[in-house]
Amino acid sequence: MNIIDINLREKCYKIYIERGILKYVGEKLKSSYEGRSIVVITDYNVEKLYLDILRESLLNAGFKVNSISIPPGEKSKTLEMLKKVYENLCKFNIRRSDIIISLGGGVVGDLAGFAAATYLRGIRYIQIPTSILAQVDSSVGGKVAVDLPWGKNLVGNFYHPDAVFIDPEVLSSLNDRFFSDGMSEVIKYGFIKDRSILDDLDSYSNRKDVLNNIDNIIYKCCSIKRELVEKDERDLGDRMMLNFGHTLGHAVEKYYNYERYSHGEAVAIGMTAVTGRTEEMGITKRGAYDYMKYILDKYGLPTCMPDLNRKEIIDSVALDKKSSGKDILNLIVLEEVGKAKIMKVKISQVQHFLFLDKIK
Ligand code: GLY
Repeated sequence: MNIIDINLREKCYKIYIERGILKYVGEKLKSSYEGRSIVVITDYNVEKLYLDILRESLLNAGFKVNSISIPPGEKSKTLEMLKKVYENLCKFNIRRSDIIISLGGGVVGDLAGFAAATYLRGIRYIQIPTSILAQVDSSVGGKVAVDLPWGKNLVGNFYHPDAVFIDPEVLSSLNDRFFSDGMSEVIKYGFIKDRSILDDLDSYSNRKDVLNNIDNIIYKCCSIKRELVEKDERDLGDRMMLNFGHTLGHAVEKYYNYERYSHGEAVAIGMTAVTGRTEEMGITKRGAYDYMKYILDKYGLPTCMPDLNRKEIIDSVALDKKSSGKDILNLIVLEEVGKAKIMKVKISQVQHFLFLDKIK
């Protein structure tokens, strides 16, 4: 088992990475939470595959267990769905000493985490991420949120789990699109911080190879995330590097109402668009753009900006929460493969960085 310790000023917790750990979660939680009620929040897809395994493990450890299941997908990350979660927590008579477990991908983790952060002014929660994206990124670092009609994650908090249990075995049930979706975040880590991740990905010839080595990939990504979160828990400095490709990615996802591109696909478009421009501008060392296109393509991810209304995209980017002031945006750009930096860009100039030279 690999264990990563997250040490923050006000909270320390562990990430456990082990094949098959889902079956032992009850045992792991028993000594800390004996006798408490647990509510598992999951989605309809994950429920079918893994809820019974988790429930059995928790019941065997003596916990009282209830569950809440939501429709899968970004469209569930809303205030309306959150209200339904609160209703169920009240129905199950959940007290402040009880526990929420999030069992699912990024949407479930963000929603369950935000419910935990706010219900009764905050109850403890555990993350059990079941997608690559959630295992390498969203389950770690305490960002919890729901979306508003005006954009993603506009209502949220920093609220850390008590523990994260990562079982790489659950990834074998991901369909190809979800697999690629998560690989986009893995590729992002390679470009911003650790070229060896990309070299590893380049050396694998198929999905089976990747899954055989995924424990190590998850460990490398979570270690980078640990370093950035410990340095900058509140996302005011270095942690922002994790947003590489996301400013444009979020705008593209929203533009298509979260129906055309998955998060990872939109981030892939965002990373390539920005890197294409910054390489032309001399900010990024030559070669990064081609290597990026090659790796993203190898992992089934899009690299071309669709033909969309650019003015709408710029407006959406301007609304993005990563703005550091009224007119300034923190844009993440590469210096070279494996090294990112934060650039302060005027909103009025941002189109030049997004492959969008002329506003349509
Ligand atoms: N997913 C980006 C972050 O946690 O900061």
